[in-house]
Amino acid sequence: MSNHDSGLIKINGKYKGKDILSLDQFTSKDILALYKKTQQMKRIALGAKPAKNLAGKIVAIIFYEPSSRTFNSFAAAVKQLGGQTLEVHDPKTFSSVSKGETLEDTIRVLEAYTDAIVIRHNEQGSVQKAADAAEFVPVFNAGDGIGEHPTQALLDLMTIYDKHKRLNNLTGIMAGDLLNGRTIHSLIRGLSLFKNNIIYLLSPKELKLSKDDFNLFSQRNIKLIEVSNINDLPKEADFLYWTRVQKERFKDLSVYEKVKNKFVLDKKLIDNMGWKNAIFMHPLPRVGEIALDVDEDKRAVYLRSQIRNGMYVRMALLDLIIGRK
Ligand code: NCD
Repeated sequence: MSNHDSGLIKINGKYKGKDILSLDQFTSKDILALYKKTQQMKRIALGAKPAKNLAGKIVAIIFYEPSSRTFNSFAAAVKQLGGQTLEVHDPKTFSSVSKGETLEDTIRVLEAYTDAIVIRHNEQGSVQKAADAAEFVPVFNAGDGIGEHPTQALLDLMTIYDKHKRLNNLTGIMAGDLLNGRTIHSLIRGLSLFKNNIIYLLSPKELKLSKDDFNLFSQRNIKLIEVSNINDLPKEADFLYWTRVQKERFKDLSVYEKVKNKFVLDKKLIDNMGWKNAIFMHPLPRVGEIALDVDEDKRAVYLRSQIRNGMYVRMALLDLIIGRK
């Protein structure tokens, strides 16, 4: 929603009507309040009674980049709560964007028909632009280039919380494309809102966090340890967060070929390392960086709770932000 001081508006206990653009809007309390709401949403989703929380509401979902989970879980979340969706896949082909319509104009049109806009865009900064263009309805960032993916981080944090019953005193391992992975950028922000978290960052040197991000996050309440060798990882961890090398962000595909799948999580590695109390996470899609032989391991949550939590958390956000009560 347009915000004339052009800074991020903090949640500070009040979700109603706000955009969700960045994890920087949240406090630890806001996140825990969201998870309380999420429990209620879970009961709605698993129960047989139709919910009316979003009855009469229409949510636009417009994605300039492909998606399986984020798009569909937002759509399912709206419908679980009795609302309806207006879905725009690939606007560059199927809307007036192909005729040269600007992002701002597209958003002004969509907000005339709907009560909220969920947007994914390939260019960092575009979701903020969309939020500035929208005068009346809240905007949800569903992935903003290499910037952030806040709703993914909220579901990731909830998955960790479900397992460990806390979001502080955690040791985590994040691996893969830390430079371009927007889920990583939001998740580190989220973890830094809680105390005593340590994250090992494993990546090829080409895919380390950018200097700016590393410096920014290092000033926060989180300990980041960059490593480039699997042997430097701890054998005890609370969660592993593996990610895909983001091929679509490479200008030079020969560099991609060189760095892709440098670190593959497979059964042999897990057996060597132990990681007894860890959960194995991935935002998906995976393209080889987690071997199929990991799927049956009970610690692997990427095709289990991590997916389901995506819908529950998005239901909770929608209900808090545009719900009838
Ligand atoms: C991620 C994304 O789009 O950033 N996918 C998702 O939303 N779960 C991760 C990825 O594409 O690698």
